[in-house]
Amino acid sequence: MSPPVVLVVGGAGFIGCNLAAHLARMKHRIRIFDDLSRPGVDRNLAWLQRTFGDRIEARIGDIRDRPRLREAVDGADVVFHFAAQTAVTTSMVEPRHDFDVNARGTIEVLEAVRHGGARTPLIFTSTNKVYGCLPDLPLREDQSRWVPIDTKLAYNGIDETRPLQFRTPYGCSKGCADQYVLDYAHSFGIPAAVFRMSCIYGPHQFGTEDQGWVAHFLIRAIEGKPITIYGDGKQVRDVLFVDDLVDAFVRAWSRIGAISGRAFNIGGGPENTISLRELVAMIETLRGMPPTVRFEGWREGDQKFYISNTTAFAQATGWRPRVGPRAGVEALHGWLTDQRAPALEGARHA
Ligand SMILES: NC(=O)c1ccc[n+]([C@@H]2O[C@H](COP(=O)([O-])OP(=O)(O)OC[C@H]3O[C@@H](n4cnc5c(N)ncnc54)[C@H](O)[C@@H]3O)[C@@H](O)[C@H]2O)c1
Repeated sequence: MSPPVVLVVGGAGFIGCNLAAHLARMKHRIRIFDDLSRPGVDRNLAWLQRTFGDRIEARIGDIRDRPRLREAVDGADVVFHFAAQTAVTTSMVEPRHDFDVNARGTIEVLEAVRHGGARTPLIFTSTNKVYGCLPDLPLREDQSRWVPIDTKLAYNGIDETRPLQFRTPYGCSKGCADQYVLDYAHSFGIPAAVFRMSCIYGPHQFGTEDQGWVAHFLIRAIEGKPITIYGDGKQVRDVLFVDDLVDAFVRAWSRIGAISGRAFNIGGGPENTISLRELVAMIETLRGMPPTVRFEGWREGDQKFYISNTTAFAQATGWRPRVGPRAGVEALHGWLTDQRAPALEGARHA
């Protein structure tokens, strides 16, 4: 039997690269469709090709290019759709582009699958931003983080019964795509599931000030540059190491018949939470010196507190995260340091 063909749309990106590597190790054939618009992701693709050779097939293209996308979907056994404009900040500056890539682009992916006629399973990465800023949650201020007054919420996190409230153009475009994916499962019988993800971090992440804050803070500290914190730095997130996310994708694919048409909150959950200030403190311990930190005003759509309740997905698939923030941040720090080593070596010999 020939190995499955896995199409990873946005597969050169951080999450796509990690999933592609995992499935290539399992001897699957990986087809990557990506326009390489995110700076740095060409390095991920080059690494995948170097490491896995002809198990990785790259198709460079934009998801809005209908014929190219349909060619890529043709013959795939599963589609993971990750391609997106990923930053809230960019969506505030260019809402049309954000809508075009995230909402229309997702319809193009769904239509390509529908027209393929094979009812190919599809898994889509949405975001916790579909629940809005959560202004109704009563919080109290602790020394390093915001804490919900409702202890049940603090212990369990936010589940999928939370009403949707799209805020910011990014929240709207991803939320729109999220709803279309669920609807294509219901209206057209495409086996599809949605992950509403909190903060994911890990190797192959080129974090910037606009997206990927754990990697971004580490990169700034390694480069000896100041970190800018928007707001008071007590914002809390449940962070999920990318290997645990990859495990969740594999489980979702293997049980897609049972979970089709459902959206799941996916993150580190209540046991894997960290605030921005706490990450800065962790980086200080890791590097033996405090990073320089500056504070600026709050950014639009920022949630003071978000923790995923992942019970629904755990019950459906048996999944649970295994990598805690300390081990995960250390692993990412190690990877980032290794990436910079050749550049530093070059600078020393120049
Ligand atoms: N990383 C997180 O913490 C996080 C959290 C919630 C949701 N998500 C979602 O997960 C997905 C993957 O995120 P990531 O962190 O890997 O981002 P990423 O930017 O590293 O990867 C996205 C990839 O999509 C590609 N892309 C962008 N526009 C494209 C287009 N028009 N056509 C083809 N390819 C295009 C980019 O070049 C990039 O390689 C995104 O949909 C994002 O919204 C990520």
